[in-house]
Amino acid sequence: MKITKETIGVGFIGAGDISVLHAAAVKKCPGAKLVGLWNRNQERATQRATEFGCKNYKTPAELVADPAIDAVFVLTNLESHLEYTQLALNAGKHVLVEKPVGVSVAEIEQMRDLAAKKDLVCLPGHNYVYEASMMRTRDLVQNGDLGKIVSAYVMYNIHHPEEVAKRYPGVVRQILTHHSYILLYLVGKPVELCAMKATLHYKEYTEEDIAMVQMRLHNGALAHFCASFAADDHAADPWTVMVKVIGTAGSTRYSYRDHVEIKPGLVHSQTYTAYQGSVMNEVRHFLVDSLRMGQPPLSSLDDAITAQKMIEAAEKSIAEKSVVKL
Ligand SMILES: NC(=O)c1ccc[n+]([C@@H]2O[C@H](COP(=O)([O-])OP(=O)(O)OC[C@H]3O[C@@H](n4cnc5c(N)ncnc54)[C@H](O)[C@@H]3O)[C@@H](O)[C@H]2O)c1
Repeated sequence: MKITKETIGVGFIGAGDISVLHAAAVKKCPGAKLVGLWNRNQERATQRATEFGCKNYKTPAELVADPAIDAVFVLTNLESHLEYTQLALNAGKHVLVEKPVGVSVAEIEQMRDLAAKKDLVCLPGHNYVYEASMMRTRDLVQNGDLGKIVSAYVMYNIHHPEEVAKRYPGVVRQILTHHSYILLYLVGKPVELCAMKATLHYKEYTEEDIAMVQMRLHNGALAHFCASFAADDHAADPWTVMVKVIGTAGSTRYSYRDHVEIKPGLVHSQTYTAYQGSVMNEVRHFLVDSLRMGQPPLSSLDDAITAQKMIEAAEKSIAEKSVVKL
């Protein structure tokens, strides 16, 4: 069901850090408007509603019942994504739900099945696949232009202070979810993996601040993930966020370091322009390509389910010190 009205109305459930990037993205998106938000903490809700120039709803039920809202962005903590996604879908609204989409495979399956039943779009917040460089890499891989793929890497080294990290699960869930859907998009599903994690700089928070995963892909190639909140990489050509695919006939890279602004980002020591850029591309894809033009997402809830299976396999591998088949 394509949206034809002049302005697509958007509502945010949750107005934490990531809502700032989504608000900037909606503002830049043609034919879309942020109508209002709801946030559990009223002080934050009032502050953000003033900042964004939108309504402040008293309850999430009031927000999803507003006929001016066509699409709801679920931007709360992971544990409440299912509740608010169901609330919005049951009210007949399309949904963009931030990553990690759900706490378990079963939660994401429930979202997928409900969206299908209601004939509504429910897009996972897989922002990085909407970057032009990622799309070009996927085309090159699919056309065989890189030859036989031998390896793929997704590296992330961005220091996060302990008080920020405490709001999230450890980096396995919080960050390796990005790595998982990126790998699926670029080269497909791994067949087996092994993982390790460590806590190197947190004082009180007990979750990991660094994790690595080794994988074997379906064609026999190998892949590697690193996700670290423990330290920034300051060296030349740093691996701040770096994605590489190497084949026998060519290779590609995507790097956060292609565009850097010397001012603090939301929680980063510098502003990596690609972060905001990827959210802008994702929001535009959701509101314009998907809701107006009916195009399928580049990464779906089925991909979110596979990404969640990869995360759970990494957790199993860490717990058992084993290689886990997918
Ligand atoms: N795509 C990305 O690159 C990216 C980056 C950062 C965060 N995220 C995701 O966005 C989501 C929010 O992250 P954030 O950085 O904005 O976090 P945050 O802590 O700044 O904000 C989370 C918001 O959720 C609210 N909240 C917490 N528990 C709640 C509950 N039980 N019910 C209702 N509201 C509740 C809090 O009041 C807060 O306003 C998370 O799922 C996170 O993984 C995605």
